[in-house]
Amino acid sequence: MASIRKKLLTWYDREGRDLPWRRTRDPYAIWVSEVMLQQTRVDTVIPYYERFLSSFPTAGALAEADEDAVLAHWSGLGYYRRARLLHQGVQEVVAEYGGAVPEDAKARRGLPGVGRYTAGAIGSIAFDKEEPVVDGNVSRVLCRLFRIDTRLGTTETTRRLWEEAAHLVVGERPGDLNQALMELGATICTPKRPRCEACPVSKDCEALANDETGSLPVKLARKAPKQVELAAVVATRGRGARRKIWLIKGDQPLFGGLWGVPMAEGNPRTALVEAGLEARLQTKPIGQVKHVLTHRRLQIDIFLASAARGTESKNGQLFAPESLQQVGVSTLTWKILERARLS
Ligand code: ADE
Repeated sequence: MASIRKKLLTWYDREGRDLPWRRTRDPYAIWVSEVMLQQTRVDTVIPYYERFLSSFPTAGALAEADEDAVLAHWSGLGYYRRARLLHQGVQEVVAEYGGAVPEDAKARRGLPGVGRYTAGAIGSIAFDKEEPVVDGNVSRVLCRLFRIDTRLGTTETTRRLWEEAAHLVVGERPGDLNQALMELGATICTPKRPRCEACPVSKDCEALANDETGSLPVKLARKAPKQVELAAVVATRGRGARRKIWLIKGDQPLFGGLWGVPMAEGNPRTALVEAGLEARLQTKPIGQVKHVLTHRRLQIDIFLASAARGTESKNGQLFAPESLQQVGVSTLTWKILERARLS
């Protein structure tokens, strides 16, 4: 009987999707794709990946780019910390390794933003190394295949998953083997209603044999996201075609490093004060937007203010609405500006 490895590879050759990052062995391009694919779906990632690589085709090009330009290419993908760490990572590759992503696993793991998962993906896909990867999809596949019934996210389960993945990856085509596991989790071994009839390793699956695909993997109970009520101020200066919007950047904990409208918990005045702005504030909000982050549910009242005055700096500036495509702006900021009819 063919091994699990062999069945996975044969299936992947036949059924694996033709994705842009699967046409390259460039470790830098693989790195970009894997960082984007953390927490973001394949369909969403594709156009971002293509734009990103056409603007920053090499590690050297990305290292030299402005952080604002990098974030602008990430605008809408969320989890902007990933982009900043990727930027820092390639800067280190240039400074320490002459612009070439290191083949050595330890050196790769030492790069900013490169954890065990990203290092393993680059190592196996670009360098043909027998390095495992475990992400959410792979975890689900392995929990079912090997009937792992301890809770996801615990030390014990994590250790077991990496052990199983490390076993499986040994042999020919480690990069494809890893991607076959991811692909299986994404397309067949899905959280709800897995399509076991189409699975290449259904005969090997211990969860299926025990009728437990519905109960495995066992999730860790998540804390309910915290509700936060915010006031956002869309502060403008000038009228008509000359109207500009005041945006700030910096130490806002949720969107640090991106440009956004001033926001504060509760009170729009506080938002203006914290931004160092004076403006004519309307007392009633023009509307509300909701925005869900991993650990927070935001409810944001939007206020308008005109005649904004403040000292421009690297953390606070007036922007023409049409220039916002060029700067890093979060999805939430777009939503707010849309509501204020300023995007
Ligand atoms: N998710 C994470 N990495 C991936 C890859 N290389 N292909 C498809 N989905 C993925």
